[in-house]
Amino acid sequence: MYKQLLQSNKKSIAVWGTGYIGLSTMVYFASENISTIGYDIDEQKVKNICDGILPIPELESWFGFKIDNLVETGYLNATTNYKELINEDTIIHFVAIPTEKDGKPFFKILEDVLEKICELKTIHLEHKPLIIIESTLTPKTSENLIIPIFEERNIKVGRDILFAVAPRRDWFVEGNKSLRELDRVFGSTDEESNKVTREVLEIVCDKLHAASSYRVSEMVKSIENAYRHMEITLANQLSIAYPNENMREVLQLVGTKWNIGTFFPGFGTGGYCIPLSSQYVVQGISNDNHLSLLRETIKTDNQINILIAHSLIKKGFKKIGVLGLSYKGNLKVSILSPVIPFVEELKKNSVYVEIFDPFFNDEEIKEITGLNSFNYPKELSKFDALVISVDHDEFKVFEDAKEYLKNCKYVLDNLGVWEEKLKSYKNIEYHVAGDENWLS
Ligand SMILES: NC(=O)c1ccc[n+]([C@@H]2O[C@H](COP(=O)([O-])OP(=O)(O)OC[C@H]3O[C@@H](n4cnc5c(N)ncnc54)[C@H](O)[C@@H]3O)[C@@H](O)[C@H]2O)c1
Repeated sequence: MYKQLLQSNKKSIAVWGTGYIGLSTMVYFASENISTIGYDIDEQKVKNICDGILPIPELESWFGFKIDNLVETGYLNATTNYKELINEDTIIHFVAIPTEKDGKPFFKILEDVLEKICELKTIHLEHKPLIIIESTLTPKTSENLIIPIFEERNIKVGRDILFAVAPRRDWFVEGNKSLRELDRVFGSTDEESNKVTREVLEIVCDKLHAASSYRVSEMVKSIENAYRHMEITLANQLSIAYPNENMREVLQLVGTKWNIGTFFPGFGTGGYCIPLSSQYVVQGISNDNHLSLLRETIKTDNQINILIAHSLIKKGFKKIGVLGLSYKGNLKVSILSPVIPFVEELKKNSVYVEIFDPFFNDEEIKEITGLNSFNYPKELSKFDALVISVDHDEFKVFEDAKEYLKNCKYVLDNLGVWEEKLKSYKNIEYHVAGDENWLS
């Protein structure tokens, strides 16, 4: 029934937070000719969406189309006035706001949004609204925080509203890891919530997995990423423990075993998901003696970029150029980028550093890191050492950079972008993260 109500445009979808997750939810439903409205506190983002301009331009290649048509046809709408989402027409509410701040789990925004959603109570509702949480949660957040917020306002989950937790796994770099194609886990509080959630999600997701409850689906997201966090960090611990060995090559060959993934040493994790995952999992328990593996993972991952900075400080470089601020290639995301604490440490130790990243302008680089940007590739000649932190396509064209490396004595390449070209250079000491003595 909910599906028909949406498909016949009698009812619409509300999305709280129109960033990567929220906007992509809106766009996928709007592409199915379902009316969506997103609420955000970011006025520019809302204006862009209303003008048919993607506020996150990289999403265009992920979607494979522009959004202007969806705005013209009226299926994609955005507002800074949340009251426009509190009405009898919006029966499905996706929550996709940040649940982290300054590198730590943070739930104040979630509380604020849920309190606004509770205003639905004042409206005469023909159908129970369904609230689907897409944001990442610490285990037990629904039980300890979300459901009590509803109940304090005499809104009973199951009786007055429907509720589900359906975390996201999209990888916004590759178009084939989209909302439609990736396996999606969801879990609900009761049978009706479960049925309606499936009905709604299957409009845009092909592979759904129903967990037995919202408690389970809530844990899946942080635990699956905590596994990755631990494996990535183990690669760094191995490299620190065996500094004279080429751990990169060892791990590449380890990864040829049928049941093992390939993880390389490097600058550490970045972005919203992996660095925070272990913190969410650990935050869910009160016993400090449990999950020592994850506690150690958090510690090592936070320290690796500091260790890398000190290996360069020790070598006495005075001017270091850093290529890349994003935590991932071809993406404009600096959230928890390991480059930020790395350059901070260099600065603290009086090393002159500048950053170039084609996805960020000079002002943005200044605001995020306090550092100046430089002209790439021409001003590479200013530096006696270079650090390539990500594999943006622009950095892969070595020929562009080659003639400006006259003063460069050392290159540290996180992902081996220049490996083929530079390893035979006589005047430049070249290291890929994880090779022998890269941290010495
Ligand atoms: N980006 C990913 O790859 C990814 C993947 C899976 C899960 N997640 C999770 O999804 C959630 C959202 O992530 P994202 O990448 O979309 O973040 P984002 O920063 O791209 O978007 C969040 C949006 O929420 C808005 N916002 C902030 N405060 C608000 C408020 N009080 N009311 C309304 N809007 C508000 C921001 O302006 C922003 O537009 C997080 O919990 C994140 O951990 C993200």
